[in-house]
Amino acid sequence: MDAWEEVAATPAFHRLARLVVSFAALQRDDHVVDLGAGTGLLSLLVAPQVENVIAVDSAPAMLARLEQRAAAGGITNITAVGADMRSLPLEDGSASLIVSNYAFHHLDDLGKELALSEARRILVPGGRLVVCDMMFGLSFCPRDRRIVAEKMKLIAAAGPAGFARLARNAIRIIRRDWEHPARPEQWEQMLAARHFVDPVVVALEHEGGIAAARRA
Ligand SMILES: C[S@@+](CC[C@H](N)C(=O)[O-])C[C@H]1O[C@@H](n2cnc3c(N)ncnc32)[C@H](O)[C@@H]1O
Repeated sequence: MDAWEEVAATPAFHRLARLVVSFAALQRDDHVVDLGAGTGLLSLLVAPQVENVIAVDSAPAMLARLEQRAAAGGITNITAVGADMRSLPLEDGSASLIVSNYAFHHLDDLGKELALSEARRILVPGGRLVVCDMMFGLSFCPRDRRIVAEKMKLIAAAGPAGFARLARNAIRIIRRDWEHPARPEQWEQMLAARHFVDPVVVALEHEGGIAAARRA
């Protein structure tokens, strides 16, 4: 099991995956695309309930593991596609549902715009989008301040190694090579800018959030 697969196996991530599924309102005839599918947390959960799943990820090792896990579970309706979610090798209108878990924060603002444009392009009219990701920022709003303070406390609890990590993180933030979580308000703006309709953006109690919408 690689490091990410261990994280994805935690009860917290299983809860997130179930939350995505509850927002997605799966239908038997859904053609699903999972963006940044990783080792398959969402794809494997969704596949038995829909027509098929295309699991997109830019890391071949992640997809190889996803395929192993699908084979072990006897799941045959997942196709793994090695691709960048900012430029999808998929037909216009080929998906009725797009899901994504903890992948968008790997993309900067432009990357998110490109990925959302691609998501819109491959969705059928009326198709649904459900994204779960880190949704917070380094602002002074109370939720952001609480989340950042909790993260710092957790890291510092590891003692000297934790303080070293805090210092490394501070340098990464200054150099702007940190992860790129977007705040819930930014998700609302991005969905509107890409002409998605019926947007619902929910900030969860922790760093995460859900952004769901439909293609008009
Ligand atoms: C934190 S993991 C989450 C994986 C999975 N969704 C889950 O919940 O277990 C993020 C995944 O996004 C993938 N990823 C990052 N940038 C990507 C991009 N531009 N296009 C496609 N996949 C990407 C990574 O390879 C990684 O597998």
